[in-house]
Amino acid sequence: MNTKQPVRVAVTGAAGQIGYSLLFRIASGDMLGKDQPVILQLLEITPALKALQGVVMELRDCAFPLLADIVTSDDPMVAFKDADYALLVGAMPRKAGMERGDLLSANGGIFKPQGEALNAVASRDVKVLVVGNPANTNALIAQQNAPDLDPKQFTAMVRLDHNRAISQLAEQTGQPVSAIKNITIWGNHSSTQYPDLSEATVGGQPALDLVEREWYEGTYIPTVAKRGAAIIEARGASSAASAASAAIDHMRDWALGTPEGEWVSMGIPSDGSYGVPEGLIYGFPVRCSGGKYEIVQGLDVSEFSRGKMDATAQELIEERDEVRKLGLVK
Ligand code: NAD
Ligand code: LMR
Repeated sequence: MNTKQPVRVAVTGAAGQIGYSLLFRIASGDMLGKDQPVILQLLEITPALKALQGVVMELRDCAFPLLADIVTSDDPMVAFKDADYALLVGAMPRKAGMERGDLLSANGGIFKPQGEALNAVASRDVKVLVVGNPANTNALIAQQNAPDLDPKQFTAMVRLDHNRAISQLAEQTGQPVSAIKNITIWGNHSSTQYPDLSEATVGGQPALDLVEREWYEGTYIPTVAKRGAAIIEARGASSAASAASAAIDHMRDWALGTPEGEWVSMGIPSDGSYGVPEGLIYGFPVRCSGGKYEIVQGLDVSEFSRGKMDATAQELIEERDEVRKLGLVK
């Protein structure tokens, strides 16, 4: 029997590809726990509301015991009302040959009104995850348009990159994914991201003692950083189920905590740690507990890492300057 009160989970782009996997995982308790009832508050653009009704019919047909109610709307002021969690997925995906940054002008405009609506009606403790690309800069836009909320409430998804980085290392070393700890994705969810193995371990051994440096720099880093494009090439559409799974992981760890002694990667507002310009939404190693995240401090940064971390920060500065010109951030 459930004794917990339901929490409100807003999801945008709910009739899209990612939505089709994500909603069912949330409703089954994968995100917030098997004892936490949820009310889904689903936002779509008006032409997609009919398709969304079909998704709602399927959600109901699953008879999920934790699904307390479903609200649908094409108005963010309705979908975000009192939301405790907001997963901002709705945006155009890129096509083959595009970089995620090419979506800035198409998608940036979505996140200003959504930030304003979150500011106006969401729970004062809302936890926001931006998935829609370019995720880091879209998160910055939403955050900057929600001045009454704490900037730390706005995060971007680099967890898919983190999970890809674990899986590629597991495959190379012939070890299970569960043996791999403390990988970091620094920076932007883009091809400039830096999947860093400096602190990673495999079955307790330093990862960089187990793989060739040449493989790490020449194969591993680009494979992880360009995995999104490889999926688009193979599938003819951008990653969806794996993106939904990463969103579940990100929110679960933020809400319920990271395992003892381990960290995960989250795109969060920089506080200047590790020389990352303050305010950028940048992938950092974080530990979560009690519904809060903290940057893991005190890690050594080699010259190689410094170069990679600065390059991805520079790209985020350029994206920020572009959306500034569009009037989407101050
Ligand atoms: P999709 O085209 O299948 O679905 C997007 C949905 O968003 C559509 O149903 C559309 O109607 C809706 N939408 C558009 N504008 C909206 C608005 N203003 N408000 C509410 N809904 C709106 O795309 P998808 O495959 O689900 O991908 C969604 C986004 O997630 C894309 O930008 C994609 O690039 C991104 N993505 C990010 C990651 C990541 O790791 N951060 C991973 C995969 C995909
Ligand atoms: C991904 O990493 O799979 C998504 O961001 C989609 C994309 O455009 O690569």
